[in-house]
Amino acid sequence: MKTVIYHLPNPQDETELRHAADILRTGGLVAFPTETVYGVGAAITFPDAIRRIFEVKGRPNDNPLIVHIPEPEQLKDLAEDIPSVAWTLADRFWPGPLTLVLKRKGVVPDEVTAGLSTVAVRIPGHPVALKLLQLAGLPVAAPSANLSGRPSPTLGKDVAEDLNGKIDVIIDAGPAGIGLESTVLDLTGPQPRVLRPGGVTREMLEEVFGPGGVEAPWRVEADKPSAPGMKYRHYAPKAPLKVFSGFRKQVEDVIRLKVQENVSAGHRVAVLGFDGNEQAFPGAEFLSLGCWDRPEEAAQRLFRLLRECDRRGVNVIFGECPPKTGVGLAVMNRLWKAAGGDVIEL
Ligand code: TXA
Ligand code: MG
Repeated sequence: MKTVIYHLPNPQDETELRHAADILRTGGLVAFPTETVYGVGAAITFPDAIRRIFEVKGRPNDNPLIVHIPEPEQLKDLAEDIPSVAWTLADRFWPGPLTLVLKRKGVVPDEVTAGLSTVAVRIPGHPVALKLLQLAGLPVAAPSANLSGRPSPTLGKDVAEDLNGKIDVIIDAGPAGIGLESTVLDLTGPQPRVLRPGGVTREMLEEVFGPGGVEAPWRVEADKPSAPGMKYRHYAPKAPLKVFSGFRKQVEDVIRLKVQENVSAGHRVAVLGFDGNEQAFPGAEFLSLGCWDRPEEAAQRLFRLLRECDRRGVNVIFGECPPKTGVGLAVMNRLWKAAGGDVIEL
């Protein structure tokens, strides 16, 4: 299949967006930017197209998709028994990086929800995504536009690297904003629970639910492997990643030693570290996650740097930890998953 790639400087370029919306309306697959990462979508009225999304990504079919809509009102078409707090959250955080898990309505096909009785919904806060959804006029199910297991795409060229030739259209509108996927919040249980931390942080949710009113651990895996005992690596670079958590100085010392050992063994080593540590790990290729106390920078860079490690062909990667507050919690969660759980607490 030939993939058409549109480069959009702004959403006023309606001809191309209209064409992409037509593709969605006729059961095609379109990759588009959001304020979190790039997604690859199909209209939920085409179950075959939804199945193709799973095929092209190589995604396990028990992992449900998020439905994207442009207007809060449309939530009523997809979900039932919507608690009033959902509307409060929608008011406050939509459009934006918050996905709500609610009881599903029968119109949402099983292909989207992987047969669950719930549905995940969000309004993306990116002008191109919003315009595309408005023009398509149908809810669009869209996972991140990467091959399953790889880091999510934050640039149009990352999408092309994984999906060129497999989908109808890629809309490249420059870097996605936050760089990590949306916060997934389950409102169907006894207590609101974050299934995946993201750009809407625990602190922001506590403004609605009160302190401690929402469960938000960083070691949480919304998309667990269905086979018990299987080690699940998600967002994973090709080389093994080991992450160290603890006092910054101690972490630095341990990584320096690990780098020395690996370099002497003839390995090519990368370190994902914070500004100021450029010279701290002789022999390693240093990739900066930005300023330690501005975890938004790490969020923006993490997936891009994991892909960069693949491009460079390093043999092993060591990572420093961000603070586990604000969006740092989401960065920590993705590092943990990319490391296949290999986070060493010092
Ligand atoms: O920021 C984002 O959310 C991006 C952009 C494209 O919108 N999308 C995204 O989709 O990250 P995906 O498929 O890569 O991740 C969807 C997550 C998965 O962890 C999935 O298990 C969870 O949402 N999810 C979807 N439906 C669910 C449901 N009904 N119950 C629980 N978790 C659900
Ligand atoms: Mg994904």
